[in-house]
Amino acid sequence: MKIVEVKDYKQMSHIAAEYIIRKVSENPSINLGLATGGTPIGMYKNLIQDHHLNGTSYQKVTTFNLDEYIGLSGTNENSYRYYMNENLFNHIDVQKGKTFIPHGDVQDFEAECRRYEELIETNGGIDLQILGIGNNGHIGFNEPGTSFNSKTHLVDLKSSTIEANARFFNRIEEVPTQAVTMGISSIMKSKEIILLISGEAKKEALHQLLCSEATESFPASVLRNHPCVTIIADEAAVSGAK
Ligand code: F6R
Repeated sequence: MKIVEVKDYKQMSHIAAEYIIRKVSENPSINLGLATGGTPIGMYKNLIQDHHLNGTSYQKVTTFNLDEYIGLSGTNENSYRYYMNENLFNHIDVQKGKTFIPHGDVQDFEAECRRYEELIETNGGIDLQILGIGNNGHIGFNEPGTSFNSKTHLVDLKSSTIEANARFFNRIEEVPTQAVTMGISSIMKSKEIILLISGEAKKEALHQLLCSEATESFPASVLRNHPCVTIIADEAAVSGAK
């Protein structure tokens, strides 16, 4: 794992966006793996700004998001489909039909998980996956204890994750308790991974990631086994983490 230390959230967002822009320019048909949550919002803003200023095109790009809440349709403003449309897709020239996010409002979740996993495979896999990290080390919604062999699957969210995500909802009771997420092995199949870590609240998680062995009790630690991971972390997260 390579670690790039940056000053703050703004610089992290800028550097991550610049990297994606370069990759899209080199390979206009790239398959990007995308994340939601608070961390990548600044990066998406930079991508939008660049699209308007410099015309970087996403017309041939395909995207796969990590996860989606169960029970929310894409028109629900707390769904990750809504988030992605609002924070990125509506503002660039990506073809919506080439943006994939697990469906959270289906009846047969097992079939949906299989469909999503196959979709990634039949499209040639993910070239560059963007990740954030939960305070408990989750990546996607792979909570501590998830098998490193897991594929796309249905998860029960830990109370710590529900609490951390309650800030996006009116009331904590509205946070869904389940999600569909790419599995750890699905994420690990990505050719390249960028992990974004910002803020003091993530200090402990970064410390564990840098110091612990690869263990299923801290999902992000699996990234130690991947040949091409870059962590972009800001000072607030890095200070004291090493
Ligand atoms: C989001 C996701 C999660 C988040 C993580 C950190 O698609 O898969 O793993 O990356 O919960 O969230 P933030 O960025 O809100 O701290």
